[in-house]
Amino acid sequence: MSTPKVFVTRRLPQEGIERARREADLDIWPDELPPTQDSLLARVRGTNGLVCLLTDTIDATVMDAAGPTLRVISQMAVGFDNIDVAAATARGIPIGNTPGVLTEATADFTWALLLAAARRLVEADAYTRAGRWKTWGPMLLLGADVGGATLGIVGLGRIGQAVAKRASGFGMRILYFDRQRNEALEKALGAEYVSFENLLAESDFITIHTTYSESSHHLFGEEAFKRMKPTALLINTARGPIVDGHALYLALTTGKIAGAALDVTEPEPIEPADPLLKLENVIIAPHIASASRSSRGRMAVMAAENLVAGLRGEKLPHCVNPEVYK
Ligand code: DGY
Repeated sequence: MSTPKVFVTRRLPQEGIERARREADLDIWPDELPPTQDSLLARVRGTNGLVCLLTDTIDATVMDAAGPTLRVISQMAVGFDNIDVAAATARGIPIGNTPGVLTEATADFTWALLLAAARRLVEADAYTRAGRWKTWGPMLLLGADVGGATLGIVGLGRIGQAVAKRASGFGMRILYFDRQRNEALEKALGAEYVSFENLLAESDFITIHTTYSESSHHLFGEEAFKRMKPTALLINTARGPIVDGHALYLALTTGKIAGAALDVTEPEPIEPADPLLKLENVIIAPHIASASRSSRGRMAVMAAENLVAGLRGEKLPHCVNPEVYK
């Protein structure tokens, strides 16, 4: 049998490439920016596998452009809202993702954002570099206390749980809201299940770890911000469109909430003219929560393992549409 052909939509950590290369002929998109949709359509034609990222739109058109030879789509990310899962399932194509290996890195970064926002670290650094540090000031750059505060976690999946574990070290009261209550987890983490409305009203810090879907689209909009404490800080390391950016801007500029720290935006990258970029009480990072060296390496290897399994016609170790095997 000839070596399977695979299109990889970006350069990936070497360990993943080496694993995939042992079993497939890889065509790797060489640029720093993702392929345009036209380039993607051209490059997938006749391939047996596709390794993609959250920046690629993988819809029915892409699948049909690849044609009936396409055996597997392997996403190097845990989230997969950029892929039309129903279209893949209808065509019998399994989709792989990379859960677990980025949990700790993402939880660490969530905490980096939370602490930086609470203690105004980015503002403080800019203040110092601008030569504005003239003396120790009793009222200089006052921030919020983290120890003993109330943390609200929206979505208590793997990452939400890892964030909660870190919160107990800060002596925080931990609230969570999820579609499903999990009493065993609550006990283990010392977390309390509350309604979304109560979480909004009682939390000093709210961190988002839910998946993006139609039901979580703009979950944080005008109504949600109205219910939050004026001193509250919002952290988002999940997906940008869970927060309505315009409503967030209004909430931040009218004192509905005190600040936000975002690793994800709508759209990505954020528009250079987005008014959020002008606010001092917002920190914005370029979607790097999982970007520790080892996490990204393990994500690439996991994506390669899903790819190889799919090319061999075996079940993917991490499959988001297992119904494809029925
Ligand atoms: C994911 O894996 O979904 C993350 O957003 C990547 O950092």
